[in-house]
Amino acid sequence: MRSLTLTGTVALGVLVVAASTVVFADPPRTGRGAPGAGLSAKEQLGKLLFFDERLSARGNQDCSDCHGLEVGWTGPIEAIDMHGAVYEGSVAGRFGARKPPSSAYASFSPILHRDKKNGEFVGGAFWDGRATGEKLGNPAADQAQGPFLNPLEQALPDAAAVVKRVCSPHSGYSLLLRQVWGQGICDDVDAAFAAIARSIERYEASREMSAFSSRFDAYLAGEAALDDQELRGLALFRGKAGCDTCHAIVSDGNVPPLFTDFTYANLGAPKNPENPFYTQPPAVNPLGAAFVDLGLGSFLATRPEYASLAAENNGKHKVPTLRNVDKRPYGSFVKAYGHNGYFKSLEEMVHFYNTRAVLPTCAPGDPGEKRTCWPAPEVADNLETAKVGNLGLTTAEERDIVAFLGTLSDR
Ligand code: HEC
Ligand code: HEC
Repeated sequence: MRSLTLTGTVALGVLVVAASTVVFADPPRTGRGAPGAGLSAKEQLGKLLFFDERLSARGNQDCSDCHGLEVGWTGPIEAIDMHGAVYEGSVAGRFGARKPPSSAYASFSPILHRDKKNGEFVGGAFWDGRATGEKLGNPAADQAQGPFLNPLEQALPDAAAVVKRVCSPHSGYSLLLRQVWGQGICDDVDAAFAAIARSIERYEASREMSAFSSRFDAYLAGEAALDDQELRGLALFRGKAGCDTCHAIVSDGNVPPLFTDFTYANLGAPKNPENPFYTQPPAVNPLGAAFVDLGLGSFLATRPEYASLAAENNGKHKVPTLRNVDKRPYGSFVKAYGHNGYFKSLEEMVHFYNTRAVLPTCAPGDPGEKRTCWPAPEVADNLETAKVGNLGLTTAEERDIVAFLGTLSDR
């Protein structure tokens, strides 16, 4: 147990106040994290943490910089999505290797485990599942501890640095933290860091982020209709195109369909040549342009009990939710898709599913790229060939599926 030195006296002062004061002292400077109506105290705390850019090395980055509401809680900057699709960290010039997935609906992923029947990996958070949920009991909670300390993201030196900022009376919500998690919570760095992550996970699962308020949800509830094209798209999604075999449309009663079964697959997505990770210094990326994202396999290789299964999982990435894939501030706004953001529209994505295995491999600089040819997969091993690559869809059917995906945006 590490203890927190700095705030000792101040914290005591606050403690006394806490007993008699209302929940919110002052909202964080940015104002973006103002308390949301209808959130529980824990969810509100998570929201304040999610939107607090003071919790980064240069005081310039919070979770929403890479997970923005207006685009369905993924990367919000069009100029980035159109190219490398990777977001710069708090420290200028520092980039990871992947496109931000949505932070919404991640809370519903089970703890990473092997399916009893087929031995396949299921659950976890991140594209490669490395936030397993084993530590805090929920993958999204494990995940939430990552960005604060990732040198390519918010880049704080250690958990104590995060806790120090949150527990400081200047945070504006240290009282709330103590009210929700106990007066002594700031005395133990590990406990406080866990409480911070769990609060963020609760906000991510809240009605504000995981809203289940799309037109498709209203349709399921019998409160709205889908038009003919959307209905054709839904039928193809569940039938001829087989999308729902991974992006599952099942409901367990409590939770509406999540459009993922939290399994992993290698679709054969090409590299994104504009990925800024390729030109990171050797200390960050020793392989330079030769870097290949092995996904789940790269994580399994780090775990002794799973290492022997790494090779057969190279190139596999977690099946993402499709909720909000079409959510954008205006119609022509470009979003990036896939773990490296190679795809720039849902039309491209669906055309890829339909034709990857049918069209030839592009020659370098081929003008037909994404229409009449596809570049080689980033990882050629473990390609998903049964369900993906040759769907026999007409152009009109591709459009129907895209139209259906448009019904999954929360309102
Ligand atoms: C600099 C950009 C950046 C910042 C800041 C950032 N993220 Fe992310 N986030 C990403 C990227 C990139 C990934 C995928 C990384 C990977 O798979 O290796 C990710 C993954 C996630 C996921 C996993 C979703 C899933 O389905 O697996 C969640 C949840 C998430 N972030 C929440 C947060 C929270 C909470 C914060 C703030 C504490 C945060 N992010 C800060 C870029 C960012
Ligand atoms: C074999 C399982 C599987 C099937 C079948 C499948 N997908 Fe996916 N889907 C994935 C995986 C895995 C990814 C992430 C792949 C990557 O990044 O390399 C993904 C990514 C996506 C994305 C990008 C989402 C994002 O946030 O970046 C969209 C959109 C999508 N799929 C739509 C569809 C549609 C439409 C179909 C049917 C035509 C379909 N998928 C069929 C597994 C599947």
